[in-house]
Amino acid sequence: MSSTTAPKTRLRPAKPDEQDPAERMSRDELEALQLTRLQETVRHAYANVPHYRTKLDGAGVHPDDIRSLDDITKIPFTSKEDLRQNYPFGMFAVPSEEVARIHASSGTTGLPTVVGYTKGDLEIWGGLVARSLRASGVRPGMRVHNAYGYGLFTGGLGAHAGIEALGATVIPMSGGQTTKQVQLIRDFRPDVIMCTPSYLLTIADCMEEQGIDPRSTSLKAGVLGAEPWTNSMRTEIEERLDIDALDIYGLSEVMGPGVANECIESKDGPHIWEDHFLPEIIDSETGNRLADGTEGELVFTSLTKRAFPILRYRTRDLTTLLPGTARPSMRRMAKITGRNDDMIILRGVNLFPTQIEEIVLGVPALSTHFVLELTRPARMDELTIRIEPREGVSRSDIEAAVALLVKTIKIQIGSSVGVVVVDHGTLPRSEGKLKRLYDLRS
Ligand code: DLL
Repeated sequence: MSSTTAPKTRLRPAKPDEQDPAERMSRDELEALQLTRLQETVRHAYANVPHYRTKLDGAGVHPDDIRSLDDITKIPFTSKEDLRQNYPFGMFAVPSEEVARIHASSGTTGLPTVVGYTKGDLEIWGGLVARSLRASGVRPGMRVHNAYGYGLFTGGLGAHAGIEALGATVIPMSGGQTTKQVQLIRDFRPDVIMCTPSYLLTIADCMEEQGIDPRSTSLKAGVLGAEPWTNSMRTEIEERLDIDALDIYGLSEVMGPGVANECIESKDGPHIWEDHFLPEIIDSETGNRLADGTEGELVFTSLTKRAFPILRYRTRDLTTLLPGTARPSMRRMAKITGRNDDMIILRGVNLFPTQIEEIVLGVPALSTHFVLELTRPARMDELTIRIEPREGVSRSDIEAAVALLVKTIKIQIGSSVGVVVVDHGTLPRSEGKLKRLYDLRS
């Protein structure tokens, strides 16, 4: 394989004078701004979205009752179901001629959820993705290969606008056509790639199949998100491609990519851009708000959006709010453990695909390519991991690895699972959001 020996130059953190003023506000200044923006958002939603007016009236809350940030708990939650019931445009808060763009997230079941943006919303979104990229070490003039899918999905166009707003050069490749991705990475020599972490591994596999060492490319960083991934996966990606791997978080209902992003100097979980989004953590069962530092369901209220203001949206993502580090006044979120609808309950034990990922990546003979199959052969649920070994590993090493995997899952999670080793290259490869879990129970 071809390989370069010269060490790559690393991307550097954004200096204070390169950051947005909001990134350098004190916590008090930030909270004052949040309160003004929250009050305006609630007034706007109440005045223009019948659903919110009915919900707030039903709870006996008027926008004038929001006098402190804690008063947000008086507002009822919004769920995906609420958005579906108002399909397609019932949650929009501006006249249709002011809606500059529509995106939709493909519901795996039922109707997609539809979101809209005014010109001003799009400008703010581009600015926040630019801020995210800057935090990742990207600078004007760098080249960014954008392999998030373009279309109704917010990933492609959201990242695109941010790259342009930053003043970097965008390569609008979109997802798929992996061989072509590899060719363009070789020929155009981008500094940064944006895609899902699982798709970056697919691209690295394709490079290796062509005899290209994934560590030898021009890439210095990946700004990766749109699906859960663990810190072990970060290490795997960084070592395999010799890059910094940064986590970008977002969701269509709240905006798209760029709600939160990691800073390259700390890489300790995405900082939430709290001047535009107010986060809360709640207990999924009771709906009660939980203290920072406790894991629960992430809830967001938008603070500046006009076409699609969203009040206390239940994301279903499980995480913990942590104090700010590289941006001291903006809180961080721990890496997402999973969505509460991805939780597997196996004979009374709750487990997430990310927990299995963490354990699999600790077993050197096994690859990152695995799927989870949930079946119910008799009355009990069973979980089978179908996994590819790393290339070139001997049969006896694979057998030892499988035994270690089963034992570690039993000790760390408390569940008994089956493992089936399959041939290299036989499991489906990600081209975007990876599907890890297959529920085959009838
Ligand atoms: O995935 C937006 C996005 C695009 C984010 C590109 C980052 C990069 P949706 O399709 O609406 O939007 O899916 C949102 O994806 O609720 C999480 O479950 C998951 N997700 C997004 N980013 C992360 C991340 C986009 N960094 C849903 N870590 C969210 C873990 C993530 N999960």
